[in-house]
Amino acid sequence: MPWRTSIRRFSWIAILSAIGLLTGCAEQDAVKEKPVPLTIESTPYGQLPSGEAVTLYTLRNGTGMEIGVIDYGAILTSVKVPDSKGGLADVVLGFDSLDGYLGTQPYMGATVGRYANRIAKGKFTLNGKTHSLAVNNGANALHGGIKGFDKRMWSAIARNSEVGPSVELTYVSADGEEGYPGKLTTVVTYTLGNDNDIRIHYAATTDADTVLNLTNHSYFNLAGAGKGTILDHMVTIQADRFTPVDSGLIPTGELRSVAGTPFDFRTPTAIGGRIDETGDEQIKLGGGYDHNFVLNDGNGQLRLAAKAREPVSGRVMEVFTDQPGMQFYTGNFLNGSVTGKEGIRYGKRFGFCMETQHFPDSPNKPEFPSVVLKPGETFESTTVYKFSTDGNK
Ligand code: BGC
Repeated sequence: MPWRTSIRRFSWIAILSAIGLLTGCAEQDAVKEKPVPLTIESTPYGQLPSGEAVTLYTLRNGTGMEIGVIDYGAILTSVKVPDSKGGLADVVLGFDSLDGYLGTQPYMGATVGRYANRIAKGKFTLNGKTHSLAVNNGANALHGGIKGFDKRMWSAIARNSEVGPSVELTYVSADGEEGYPGKLTTVVTYTLGNDNDIRIHYAATTDADTVLNLTNHSYFNLAGAGKGTILDHMVTIQADRFTPVDSGLIPTGELRSVAGTPFDFRTPTAIGGRIDETGDEQIKLGGGYDHNFVLNDGNGQLRLAAKAREPVSGRVMEVFTDQPGMQFYTGNFLNGSVTGKEGIRYGKRFGFCMETQHFPDSPNKPEFPSVVLKPGETFESTTVYKFSTDGNK
């Protein structure tokens, strides 16, 4: 069973990490099952108020890209990628230390669960039983509740896989946590490949029927975190339809054609081009883009979902997923109240999220693809964020 293997590996990591801490060699305690150039470093990253130690895993590939992942919230803390001249920048919003992640912050880099995005009125009925969830967004449940997966400690195992350096994080969510039924075990694995691709693999099992929707909530700015708004990024989304919302940002149930609307990103279009078209009811409701796109070819295979390109740096990000939807959120609620990396305040639209997912409020919308997980089944999903440059500068 993979679980047992994981536990065994975890003990080794724990021992190696402990030795690293005892000897003060935090920089040296990488677990290397394969020779360089792929590297993993684990570094102490502070403590939770409970005293639990948080660890930062830094993964480097053989082509100069580096990412940071912490075991608190299974958060992706940094993504350093070259521009078209080889200059590195960190392209995800976040914080310089653990304190920022522990404060009130809008899910920067976080693994979101059990249910990414909204469930109307925090209620759903499964097998004839109505479940009441923690309500934390007006009348609705958002991103797993008051203490979702983004605010939990995960157990980490770092190793070099065939594809590249990798960190596997496991969280066991108790039956009834935040109102969700069933004890759910979730394993999220980040792997950094030599194609400058971050592969995020999700796996989950349950001991009773439940619902789940897992995503990563990184805010990207391909010019570099804190370098102004993302309005100039050129975006393509492989979606002929999107799910319009009501005033609480709950999908109405309609799958609406993007044709002739500001939601048509089927050819490369600047994010800022139509974002303030207040004549468009959906743009108005979202305060910009805060909508689920119905990805084309939704029969479960990994395929290109979206692409973003920043014209000055030449950085390009492609998003691949096997999920049916993607929330395109343009940081409309960022308002300068969060001070991020290098002391920079993140203003409105300083980052955009491409959250691969099942559709919001699916537990209350039988017509949407099912989000039910049953005992004996394993939910598995992969998202890839792949970086390159277009050489335009
Ligand atoms: C939601 C937004 C929300 C943001 C931060 C996004 O996934 O769609 O409405 O404000 O997360 O919580």
